[in-house]
Amino acid sequence: MAKLGRNMVLFFLLWVAAVASGGARGQGTRVGFYSRTCPRAEAIVRSVVQSHFSSDPSIAPGILRMHFHDCFVHGCDASILLDGPTSEKTAPPNRQLRGFDVVDDAKAQLEVACPGVVSCADILALAARDSVAVTNGPFWSVPTGRRDGRVSLASDAANLPAFNDSVAVQIRKYDEKGLNAQDLVALSGAHTIGTAACQLFRYRLYGFPGAASGADPSLDAAFVRQLRALCPQNGDGARRVAMDTGSPNRFDANYYGNLRSGRGVLESDAVLWADAGTRGLVQRFLGIRGLAGLTFGVEFGRSMVKMGNVEVKSGAAGEIRTLCTAVN
Ligand code: HEM
Ligand SMILES: *[C@@H]1O[C@H](CO)[C@@H](O)[C@H](O)[C@H]1NC(C)=O
Repeated sequence: MAKLGRNMVLFFLLWVAAVASGGARGQGTRVGFYSRTCPRAEAIVRSVVQSHFSSDPSIAPGILRMHFHDCFVHGCDASILLDGPTSEKTAPPNRQLRGFDVVDDAKAQLEVACPGVVSCADILALAARDSVAVTNGPFWSVPTGRRDGRVSLASDAANLPAFNDSVAVQIRKYDEKGLNAQDLVALSGAHTIGTAACQLFRYRLYGFPGAASGADPSLDAAFVRQLRALCPQNGDGARRVAMDTGSPNRFDANYYGNLRSGRGVLESDAVLWADAGTRGLVQRFLGIRGLAGLTFGVEFGRSMVKMGNVEVKSGAAGEIRTLCTAVN
C-alpha cells in the first residue's frame, strides 16, 4: 500500500512536470496539422520558397533568421511580419531582415487554395525549414497549428540575442525561451549561410582595445586581413560579408570548424569557442575523438522544432490572419 502511494506520488510529479513543460513549449502543434484542412499547404510554401530562391538566394538565410527573430519575441506568432510605425520589424536588429515578400506570396496562394486556414506563423516556420533544404541542409518535419498574434512592439525586440552578447547572456536569453546551451550551439550553426553587415563586427578589426595588431586576438591573422579588405575602416558599414566565407550558400557543418580556427565573424560566434563550456559542445559537433559526438544535421532540426514551439498560440488564442502584414 505504501509502495502504491509512493508510485502515485511519483506518477503525479511526472504528470505535473509533463504539463508544465508542455505549456512552456507550446505543444499545441503537431506534424500534419493541415493534412485535412489544406493538404497542399506545405507543398505551396515549398514551391514559393524554391521559386524565390532561384532568383535571389539571399532569401534563404533571410527567412531562417526571420523565424528565429519571430520566435524569440512573443513566441512564434508572426509578430515579426506586422507592419506599423513601432512594430517589431522597425527595431534595429530586424531592419536587415529579408524575405517578407516570400511569406506574403505564399500567404496569397494559400488564401486562394484554402481561405482563412493557414497561419502566417506556420508559413514562416515551414519556409524556414524549406530555406535550409534549398541550401542543401537537413530536412525535418515541422509541427504546425500555430496561430497568429496581434501584438508587435519594437521595444520587445530588446530580448533578442545581440552580436556582442557574452556566452552567459546568450545562455540566459535562450533559457528564458526554454532552450539550453546545446540548442544555442546547434542553432548558431545557422550562420553557415548568409551574411553580416560590416558595422556589426568591424570593431574587432580596427583599434580593438588592448591588442597591438589592432584586431581581436581571437581572430585568425589571415582572416583579419581578408575581413579588413572586405570591410575597410571608413568604408560602408552596411556592406555585407559572408559569415561562412568558404561556402555562404551551402548549409554545411563548416561553422564549427570556423569557430575552432578563429574564423567566426561575429563576436557572439567567437565566444562560443572561447568559453570552456560551449567549446565542449562545439567540439562534440566537430566529432572530436573521445567525446560523445553530436550530428549537426540531426541536432539542428531537433533544436529548430524546439525553437519553433516557443510560446506558441493555439486553440482560442490569436487568429489566422488574412494578410501577414496586418491583424484582421
Ligand atoms: C546567439 C544567438 C545569435 C546571435 C547573437 C545572432 C546574430 C546575428 C547577426 C548580428 C547577424 C548579422 C545580421 C546583419 O548584419 O544583418 C546574423 C545573421 C544571421 N543569423 Fe544569427 N544570431 C544568432 C542566432 C541565430 C539563429 C538561432 C538563427 C537561425 C536558426 C540565426 C540565423 C541567422 C542567419 C541565417 C543570418 C544571415 C542573415 C542574412 O544573410 O540575411 N542566427 N545573426
Ligand atoms: C553591444 O553593442 C551595442 C551597440 O553598439 C552597445 O550599446 C552595447 O553596450 C554593447 N554591449 C556589450 C555587452 O558590449
